[in-house]
Amino acid sequence: MRRAVCPGSFDPVTRGHLDIFGRAAQLFDEVIVGVLVNESKKGLFTVDERIDMIREVTKDFDNVRVVAFQGLLVDFCREQGAEIVIKGIRAVSDFDYELQMAQMNIGLSGVETLFMPTNPLYSFVASSLVKEVAKWGGDVSTYVPELVERRLAERLRAVRAN
Ligand code: PNS
Repeated sequence: MRRAVCPGSFDPVTRGHLDIFGRAAQLFDEVIVGVLVNESKKGLFTVDERIDMIREVTKDFDNVRVVAFQGLLVDFCREQGAEIVIKGIRAVSDFDYELQMAQMNIGLSGVETLFMPTNPLYSFVASSLVKEVAKWGGDVSTYVPELVERRLAERLRAVRAN
């Protein structure tokens, strides 16, 4: 079975991420979305909330699983039996850092990284930008699935109320 890992923070998942998951799911027998648990960086959503949203928006793909991970990505790949990491590349500016990580991951373990060009519709979309726009009342419905849009609005309302 050919398995690929799509890793990230996904705080929250965007339509750009979802496009990559769907395309990866057509190329591999199984795609594992690995959600990084980063204790030193508090997100807007908890890891469980992020996982819940990703599971919900990928429920129509029967070969996509969503799993939290901590530590090195290459160790997670080994645990999951995956030899390939898939990364979306939005623009040339993404490439430098992604190349560094890909080469480090080959050096550490032989895990290969395949770069997938982001759908141009989402080439400027980032979770951080979506949060910023939503925070100030901007319309993010083009950039995130409906469920995420709703959860974002709820969370930002709660943050404002506190
Ligand atoms: O969505 P992000 O935050 O850009 O995703 C970054 C991620 C999770 C892919 C990267 O930080 C990662 O792989 N972290 C796991 C720790 C690790 O393996 N670090 C060495 C990478 S060479």
